[in-house]
Amino acid sequence: MKPLLLQPLFVAGFFFRSSCAADDGGLRLRGGQDDTMARYGPRIIGGTAAPPGRYKHFVSLRHPFYGHFCGASLVAADTVLTAAHCVDGSYYVVVNSEELSLTPDSHKFDVRKEIIHPNYPIDEFDAAPAHDYVLIFLNETVTSRNLQVEYIKLNSNSDEPKQNDPVTVVGHGVNEYSSTELSETLMEVELFVLSNEQCKESKLESGGQVVLSYGDDITDEMICAQDVGEDSCQGDSGGPLFVKGNDPGGADDVQVGIVSWGYGCADPNFPGVYSRISEEYEWIARQICTPCLHSNPRSITVERVYQSGSTKLSPHCDRSTIHQSTKLVGGWI
Ligand code: ARG
Repeated sequence: MKPLLLQPLFVAGFFFRSSCAADDGGLRLRGGQDDTMARYGPRIIGGTAAPPGRYKHFVSLRHPFYGHFCGASLVAADTVLTAAHCVDGSYYVVVNSEELSLTPDSHKFDVRKEIIHPNYPIDEFDAAPAHDYVLIFLNETVTSRNLQVEYIKLNSNSDEPKQNDPVTVVGHGVNEYSSTELSETLMEVELFVLSNEQCKESKLESGGQVVLSYGDDITDEMICAQDVGEDSCQGDSGGPLFVKGNDPGGADDVQVGIVSWGYGCADPNFPGVYSRISEEYEWIARQICTPCLHSNPRSITVERVYQSGSTKLSPHCDRSTIHQSTKLVGGWI
């Protein structure tokens, strides 16, 4: 059983995904810490508007009624990577989501299948969200609609990124901690990577007592990032944390994390916590490849939920097809 204080944060994320930033209840659930947060002033997240067309791999998950609730990234023509805590209930996926309002360039896709990481906690109320990964398979490929998209590269190198390396996160999440309003425009912010040892040390002390800490809730499949007055926040979950490349559309950005959780937002004591891509690169790659993409993905009948890491690649998998449509940095598994 995790300390009680951890639970409201996770519950906040849990509620948020189903009811959006406008759900006051989600934010209020973190209220136990509001006095603490107030000492540090307003939680401005400190981002800037993403240049139009720069992040063509970013996609948005939208509830049919409440709208955007989580970010995600396009990793193959029919596959989207996001945080497991995001998916629950019905939603659709919007590709080319630079604005929350749909534009002629933005396109809605329905979901065919989700594969949640097998070690993602079944009881979300009992733990920090370890193994917060899910792959979402669309019911048609983005290429079938001739869209201007890019697939983000996935990092397989566990030695990268290093402590203090700059990384970028994008999303439509709230612009300040106390806000419930999502950002109409896609925002980006640059952060710096912490070592997991540093991140575990994150704590809040009061009267000589540690009243809140990350400690062992930071596990190997997490990566932390932070900067002064800058962070991801509610509504950014599921979105990519990446090392920025030079391509003007994002073709050589390398995803290193998925927005997952944190105590507050831009709190100097508590960095943002992301699912670490390199730690589950093989699992992710295997899901993308098993079964492989076909021109008509609806014809795929292989069951894809909760496969374990030891699952063999599907004999139907045509790696050359996959190579054209995915960019798994460091080679194929
Ligand atoms: N769980 C949040 C969401 O569902 C993301 C929180 C990120 N927090 C942070 N301090 N970076 O949108």
